[in-house]
Amino acid sequence: MDGLKMIKTRRSIRKYIKKEIPDEIITEIIDCARLAPTANNKQPWLFVVIKNEELKKQIAEITDYGKFIKDANCCVAVFCEDTKYYLEDGCAATENILLAAWYFGIGSCWVAGDKKFYAEKIKDLLGVKKEYKLVSIISLGYPDEIELKNVQKVKKKSLKEVMIVKK
Ligand SMILES: Cc1cc2nc3c(=O)[nH]c(=O)nc-3n(C[C@H](O)[C@H](O)[C@H](O)COP(=O)(O)O)c2cc1C
Repeated sequence: MDGLKMIKTRRSIRKYIKKEIPDEIITEIIDCARLAPTANNKQPWLFVVIKNEELKKQIAEITDYGKFIKDANCCVAVFCEDTKYYLEDGCAATENILLAAWYFGIGSCWVAGDKKFYAEKIKDLLGVKKEYKLVSIISLGYPDEIELKNVQKVKKKSLKEVMIVKK
């Protein structure tokens, strides 16, 4: 897919069909995540890929607005060591995951992690060291056809509303 088209057509997908994502594709997606920009090149991240049905269900239940995670093929929990710019770094990596997934025709949705009441619970559930902070959880799955059509109707602010040029 053309790079600009990929960025412009990505939307959050919360409904999925039952289809396995090949391991090689998941590996490619995480490879894109680890190449994200990071302050002082710290690369403080850790990406936990959850394919296990029971764990996925538990994560979905723990979250408030991520119940659809249970129906995703898998999800990725993005953690970062508690550095000065952990949140910015983790968000950059998260966006890379969303875009790389979309490149492969895989739908995703960013589910909040940082500052959420359940962040510590998810860390414990996944056995991640306490030095890390949960930044996001990303559901991944091949999109449901109707969902795919509907999400393109999501209202976006116009360029005029959000862009100022100082010459
Ligand atoms: C920091 C952050 C947290 C988000 N958390 C959730 C969430 O918990 N549940 C959810 O369904 N969507 C979540 N989203 C997705 C947004 O709702 C979505 O990106 C927004 O509505 C714009 O739609 P789009 O992604 O299709 O462009 C989150 C997005 C961001 C950036």
